[in-house]
Amino acid sequence: MKRPIAYLAGVGKYAPPRIMKNAEFAELGLETDDAWIVQRTGIRQRHVAAPHETNRTMSAAAARIAMERAGVTPGELDVIALGTASPDRLLPSTAVDLQAELGATRAAAFDVMAACSSFLYGLIIAEGLMQSGSADTALVVGTEKLTTIVDWKDRSTCVLFGDGAGAAVLKRATGGAGILSTFMRSDGRLAELLYRPSGGASRPFDAQVLQERSFYVKMEGREVFKHAVRSMSEAADRALDGAKLTGEDIDLMIPHQANVRIIEATAKHARIPMDKVYVNVDRYGNTSSASVAIALEEALTSGRIVPGMTVLLVAFGAGFTWASLVIRF
Ligand SMILES: CC(C)(COP(=O)(O)OP(=O)(O)OC[C@H]1O[C@@H](n2cnc3c(N)ncnc32)[C@H](O)[C@@H]1OP(=O)(O)O)[C@@H](O)C(=O)NCCC(=O)NCCS
Repeated sequence: MKRPIAYLAGVGKYAPPRIMKNAEFAELGLETDDAWIVQRTGIRQRHVAAPHETNRTMSAAAARIAMERAGVTPGELDVIALGTASPDRLLPSTAVDLQAELGATRAAAFDVMAACSSFLYGLIIAEGLMQSGSADTALVVGTEKLTTIVDWKDRSTCVLFGDGAGAAVLKRATGGAGILSTFMRSDGRLAELLYRPSGGASRPFDAQVLQERSFYVKMEGREVFKHAVRSMSEAADRALDGAKLTGEDIDLMIPHQANVRIIEATAKHARIPMDKVYVNVDRYGNTSSASVAIALEEALTSGRIVPGMTVLLVAFGAGFTWASLVIRF
């Protein structure tokens, strides 16, 4: 395959205005404190969506900014790939809600469910559709309202997550800028280390589920941590190999923002110094599908990424899933 096929023409983000600091968990009656959360995760605060802020509204806000920056109208979109682990409804997809909200009547819209890797999966799928000739212009979105699916009585999970949305418009590449390499992988044998046990067809919602609180996210934190470091390191290696580059050639790494210690271990493995790693987990917590998209938007709009730079995106999530891309800007 001759690359680049696709380049990132515009990015956007939306973060709910309500910011929740770590100290607020104690006010909710949880035995935790700012020092524990900062030391173990690097998280200081997260954005929390209000009832009127849904994935539909948040993703549309991010998408409109990305489309305006890319100079693309809703009618020009061929594909909308939307990543989310916290869909507004279970049927139909959140992507079709976004499509309706934008008025993107020509697009084929679908959800990508690869948890925190969803935005990267979406970029890779969109690039593939462009390569096959099925699309010229794609909107890829990551959006989450995770604060509605975490258990606010479980201090080992609820402190980690936050809400928000990020979006990118992909257009057909005409020069050297664009996606240089991609890698994606999953391992379903490990699904139950991070999952929602109930509420789906295998264990429908009922009074017992409600009592057990088993429709909320459950996680084996230590195991997830180990796999995250291993898989993100592998993903970094594979995308670098695919682009025939090493960590030294990378101007900026944008990893999934779950935990600063996972990020540091991945960067060390890839031989990328931390001053070339974008970190915003302190301000957002883990926004799953939205995490890399939001960080990418911030890196571009703040000037951390300028034309000519080579950027490595790496993510890991429930499934487990992991993925990576090298992109030249
Ligand atoms: C969740 C995580 C921060 C926990 O850190 P850890 O060092 O592994 O801690 P453990 O889970 O072993 O728990 C250690 C102790 O801290 C306690 N603890 C857990 N959450 C706590 C909190 N918010 N505040 C205070 N104490 C807490 C535990 O109950 C445990 O207490 P115990 O020893 O009395 O049983 C860490 O495992 C992690 O980040 N894992 C990856 C999670 C992740 O990124 N998931 C998303 C992937 S996309």
